[in-house]
Amino acid sequence: MRIKKGVGELGCVLKSKFRGQGYMTIAMKLAIEFGFNEIGLTKIIAITSKQNYDALKLLERLNFMKTADLPDDDIEFNFEKINE
Ligand SMILES: CC(C)(COP(=O)(O)OP(=O)(O)OC[C@H]1O[C@@H](n2cnc3c(N)ncnc32)[C@H](O)[C@@H]1OP(=O)(O)O)[C@@H](O)C(=O)NCCC(=O)NCCS
Repeated sequence: MRIKKGVGELGCVLKSKFRGQGYMTIAMKLAIEFGFNEIGLTKIIAITSKQNYDALKLLERLNFMKTADLPDDDIEFNFEKINE
C-alpha cells in the first residue's frame, strides 16, 4: 500500500495469554502519541476484517473512526490528529 506523507498505518498482535487485560489499549495509545508527537504524523490508519471482533472493539475503544469498506471484507479506520 502507498502511504501519503504524514500518514502512518498501525497494526498490532498480542500473544493470546496476554489478551483481555487492556495491555494493547495502553500500547496503542502510546504508539498513537509517538506517531503524532515524535514522528510528525497527522493521520493514522488501521485495517482489519469485519470478522475480527476483538480488533474492532479495540479500534472503537481508541476512538478510531470507520472510513471505508475495503475488498475482502476489510474495514479501514482513521485516527486524525486534532490541531491545537
Ligand atoms: C487485536 C488484539 C490485539 C486485541 O487484544 P485485546 O486483548 O482484546 O485488547 P486489549 O489488550 O486492549 O484488552 C481489551 C480487553 O481487556 C479488557 N480490559 C481490562 N482492563 C482494561 C483496561 N484497563 N483498559 C482497557 N481494556 C481493559 C477490556 O474490557 C477488553 O476485554 P473484552 O474484549 O472482553 O471487552 C488481539 O485480539 C490480537 O492480537 N489479535 C490477533 C492479531 C490481530 O487481529 N490484530 C489486529 C489487526 S489491526
